[in-house]
Amino acid sequence: MTYLAGRSALVSGGLRGIGAAVVDRFVAEGASVFVLDLQQASSPAVEDLLSKYGGAVRYCQLDVTQEDGWYEVANILQKEAGGLDVFVSNAGIDGGGNVESLTSEYFRKVMDVNVAGMLFGVKALKNLLESRGREATGESSIIMVSSVMSQIGLADAALYSASKGAVRAMSRALAMEFASAKIPIRVNTVFPGCVDTPLLMDTLATIADSGKAGGLDDIINALVGAVPLGRLAQAREIANAILFLASSESSYITGAEIVVDGGWTAQ
Ligand SMILES: NC(=O)c1ccc[n+]([C@@H]2O[C@H](COP(=O)([O-])OP(=O)(O)OC[C@H]3O[C@@H](n4cnc5c(N)ncnc54)[C@H](O)[C@@H]3O)[C@@H](O)[C@H]2O)c1
Repeated sequence: MTYLAGRSALVSGGLRGIGAAVVDRFVAEGASVFVLDLQQASSPAVEDLLSKYGGAVRYCQLDVTQEDGWYEVANILQKEAGGLDVFVSNAGIDGGGNVESLTSEYFRKVMDVNVAGMLFGVKALKNLLESRGREATGESSIIMVSSVMSQIGLADAALYSASKGAVRAMSRALAMEFASAKIPIRVNTVFPGCVDTPLLMDTLATIADSGKAGGLDDIINALVGAVPLGRLAQAREIANAILFLASSESSYITGAEIVVDGGWTAQ
C-alpha cells in the first residue's frame, strides 16, 4: 500500500507511543517522515529510529513549547524535504491530579505543551502546508491528537481534560479558518481512549503508588472492564485512524472528530 507515496510528513512526539506508531505506518505507506521530540539527536532512541528507517526518516530535537524552534523546523523542512503535506500534532503530556494539587506552574506547563505547542506548530508550518496543498491533488492535512478525556469527566483529570478540550475546540476552529479562506489544509482531530503507551502506563503507576485505587493490575483491569471491546488500544490502532486522515482517502473530511476508544464513550 502507498497511501502516502511521495508525501512529506512531520510527527511531533514521534520517538515513542502513538507518535512512533504513526511514523511506522507512514513510512510503510511511502511517506518521508520528519520526527520531532525532546531527546538529543545523539541519543540511543534517535540512533535506533534512524537505523530502523534509514533515509525515510529524519529527526530534529524540539520542545514543542518553543515557538522560535518551530520556525527553524519549518526552514529545515523546506530545505531538506522541499515542503510539507502532513502535520501530526501528537506530542503531549499527562496532567493528572486532584484540584488541590494543581499549581499555576503545573497548569502552565501542561497547557504549554498540550495546547500552545500544537498552536505554534500550526502557525509555523501553515505556509509550507498551504503551498504544498495548492500543488498536490487533494489537500494538505493536519491531525491533532486530543483524548476522550475532552469528552467525558473522570476524577483527578481536570487539567488534562481542559488541555485536551482546548485541542478539540482549536482544531475545529482552525478547520473553519482555513476552509473559509480557501486555504487547502484540512484539520481533523483524533480522540484516543486508553492506549498501551509509556504515558498511560506511567500515569497508572502513579495512581497505583498513591494507594487510592489498588495495585497496577487492579487499575488496568478496572479500566479494561469499562471498555466495551474489553482491552486497551495498541498505538498502531490510533495510527491507522491518523493515516486515514492524512491520506487523500479522507479528502472531503475537515473539522471532524474520530474517536478511537473501543466503544468507551458510546455507552
Ligand atoms: N496513551 C493514551 O492512553 C492516550 C489517550 C488519549 C490521548 N493520548 C494523547 O496521545 C498523544 C501521545 O501520547 P502517548 O501515549 O503516545 O505518550 P508518550 O509519553 O508515550 O509519548 C509522547 C512523546 O511526546 C514527546 N514529548 C512530550 N513532551 C514534548 C515536548 N514538549 N516537545 C516535544 N516532544 C514532547 C515525548 O518525549 C514522547 O516521545 C498525547 O498528546 C496524549 O495526550 C494518549
